[in-house]
Amino acid sequence: MKAIVVEKAGGPEVLQLKEVPKPKLRKGWSLIKVKGFGVNRSEIFTRQGYSPSVTFPRILGIEVVGLIEQTTDEKRLPVGQTVVSLMGEMGRDFDGSYAEYVLVPNHQIYPIETRLDWARLAAVPETYYTAFLAMKNLQLKAEDAVLVRGGTSGLGLAFLQLAKAKYPQMTVTATTRVLSKKSQLKKLGFTDIIEDRDGQLQTEQTYSKILELVGPATIMDSLGHLQPFGIVSSVGQLGGKWFLEDFDPIMALQNHKYLSTAYSGLVDEGTVEELFAFIDYYQLDVKPAGIHRLEDLPDIHRQMDDSHNLGKHVVLLEEAQNGTNISI
Ligand SMILES: NC(=O)c1ccc[n+]([C@@H]2O[C@H](COP(=O)([O-])OP(=O)(O)OC[C@H]3O[C@@H](n4cnc5c(N)ncnc54)[C@H](OP(=O)(O)O)[C@@H]3O)[C@@H](O)[C@H]2O)c1
Repeated sequence: MKAIVVEKAGGPEVLQLKEVPKPKLRKGWSLIKVKGFGVNRSEIFTRQGYSPSVTFPRILGIEVVGLIEQTTDEKRLPVGQTVVSLMGEMGRDFDGSYAEYVLVPNHQIYPIETRLDWARLAAVPETYYTAFLAMKNLQLKAEDAVLVRGGTSGLGLAFLQLAKAKYPQMTVTATTRVLSKKSQLKKLGFTDIIEDRDGQLQTEQTYSKILELVGPATIMDSLGHLQPFGIVSSVGQLGGKWFLEDFDPIMALQNHKYLSTAYSGLVDEGTVEELFAFIDYYQLDVKPAGIHRLEDLPDIHRQMDDSHNLGKHVVLLEEAQNGTNISI
């Protein structure tokens, strides 16, 4: 089969298209014919060698949508069943979805019924699942004033879409370091756009809920813009910092401020079903920002390295592309 293999950590050029053996079925695992997958920032860290559990060579890719090709669970995962899978060490401890086939433990494969085409479906698993968890974590209410710190990310935009579907009147502000993205962000539905300059929000405004995607690099600044009884949900690390040093919880969280998180590593099948029901109920168009081919992955990673992308980018395998207009 064709796959993008990383032989050693490095820049986007280490993502190499190769012919490799198709994975062999093993007990408790099933083989998925890959129709598509979303590309994630965490795959950049893995490619760069920053994922401690990963050894090379490795096929990256932490999420997948496709069809069951070979099964060890005829009842729950029959051949031909549409499935999604995400996380659970796919693309880290074992080979991932940047390929024509991926072998995954049955317990982390989720059968779904959906009317979404492959491109839209490929945008959902990791990004919308995390955004859905973040929405729950923030305990959103219609009257909230929400800030998405890192609003141009795929995750930030997915969160905006979910939140505005449920609460159309809610004010949702985005941050970006690059103000030239402002008009695009407004068009996508953000109420207001604030510049994030050197880790400082260029506003005196406060918010009741903050989705913090830049992470530990800006959490303290975000807490300074949080209203009493407000919540900061720190879900990303776009700022490149993983830990908070010298964190004094009493001083930082005084005046009834809450700091929490949402983590897609803890996948719950019921929540996956709830997410797809939500998308269906609100008729969300989960159209990705870009649709690409397997061989485009070095270019997609390059653009993500340079932060030139806006929103979620997906790869479709050849066969899936035939049924989809690549410029939807
Ligand atoms: N907790 C979880 O389970 C979970 C799940 C999925 C993703 N995540 C995390 O969520 C974050 C978003 O993921 P994604 O895949 O949606 O990201 P993405 O689409 O690749 O995000 C791209 C945006 O990140 C911003 N950015 C890049 N470097 C930055 C920096 N040094 N400081 C501030 N902003 C920076 C850029 O915005 P501007 O240029 O416009 O400022 C860029 O447009 C990542 O940190 C990812 O690891 C966490």
